[in-house]
Amino acid sequence: MKKDNILVTGGFGLLGKPLILKLIENKNNVYVLEKKSTNRKIFLKKKPKKIIIGDFRNKKIIQKIIKKNKINVIFHLGAITQVLDSLKNPLETHETNIMGTINFLESIRKINSKIIFIYSSSDKAYGELNNRSDYKEDDKLEATYPYDVSKSASDIICQSYSKTYSLKIGIIRSGNIYGPGDLNLKRLIPEVIISTIENNKFKIRSSGKSLRDYVYVDDVVEAYYKVYKKLKNSKNNLKIYNVSSKFNYSVIDIVKIILKKMNKENLKPIVKNNSRQELNFQRLNYSKIKKELKWQPKIDIKRGIERSIIWYTKNYKNLKKK
Ligand SMILES: NC(=O)c1ccc[n+]([C@@H]2O[C@H](COP(=O)([O-])OP(=O)(O)OC[C@H]3O[C@@H](n4cnc5c(N)ncnc54)[C@H](O)[C@@H]3O)[C@@H](O)[C@H]2O)c1
Repeated sequence: MKKDNILVTGGFGLLGKPLILKLIENKNNVYVLEKKSTNRKIFLKKKPKKIIIGDFRNKKIIQKIIKKNKINVIFHLGAITQVLDSLKNPLETHETNIMGTINFLESIRKINSKIIFIYSSSDKAYGELNNRSDYKEDDKLEATYPYDVSKSASDIICQSYSKTYSLKIGIIRSGNIYGPGDLNLKRLIPEVIISTIENNKFKIRSSGKSLRDYVYVDDVVEAYYKVYKKLKNSKNNLKIYNVSSKFNYSVIDIVKIILKKMNKENLKPIVKNNSRQELNFQRLNYSKIKKELKWQPKIDIKRGIERSIIWYTKNYKNLKKK
């Protein structure tokens, strides 16, 4: 079978690393576009064809990469992903997450409209769940806060380009992804694990009651792979899927699971309750991808957290040095 020339943006991120591995293992030529930053690539287990250090806010860089390497598939994972960073820097968030996405769509439209584009959207794109049990793919996107709006806006813009210019686009709205290799040490699961390793009580910024779906990173990689394959072999130009799990937990639940697994239940968390700008309740319905692509999550939360604890116990000292 002919190899694809695949560009992965944000390839050193939590999702990017195992996705790159999967794409390389399936004999594709993988190109990675990453922002100039730390030496994050030390965590890549297999070498991609090329690592390009650059910023996708610059459209010229994107066009050059696509043309030079005859890219025919793009996984656009790169984004400002931290909700707190977005609250502090809404402009940078929108320039990166919205304009960055538009830069790809415009480049594809102008260079080769057959390029497959997979966009990382999020459950946050839907906004708050009010009086409903879960979100389905045809629900409206009604976000409020900066990160969430950057995802809804880009998601809608991707749909617009697909419907208007017949671009092949896959949109994946996933719940909270977790697992080994997450370098965002301020995300809930890494932060709790590290504070527990250091015997500190975890400080919960919010009320601790907000509910989220948690889905293990390798399960998400499988979903992305299936969506890409589906788009390749389908006459349909636009595919949108929720990707999640049945593990809908509060912050307090997650802290308890981690403390139990680490045998440190005495480190009861401190609830600060001083963060108001976040959604109370999110839950994704993922029956569409289950039915159409035969995808479902395989790793349950206890096993996933166990793997994460093992990884951070081994690596946290090096991570904190950076
Ligand atoms: N992690 C989650 O819980 C979650 C949930 C739903 C959706 N998503 C989305 O999935 C995607 C991947 O998430 P992740 O957790 O792997 O993110 P991550 O924060 O681990 O990685 C994102 C990467 O993007 C890179 N990047 C940011 N701006 C860039 C720019 N201008 N140019 C080039 N590279 C840039 C960063 O350097 C980083 O390595 C993101 O788009 C995120 O919004 C994540």
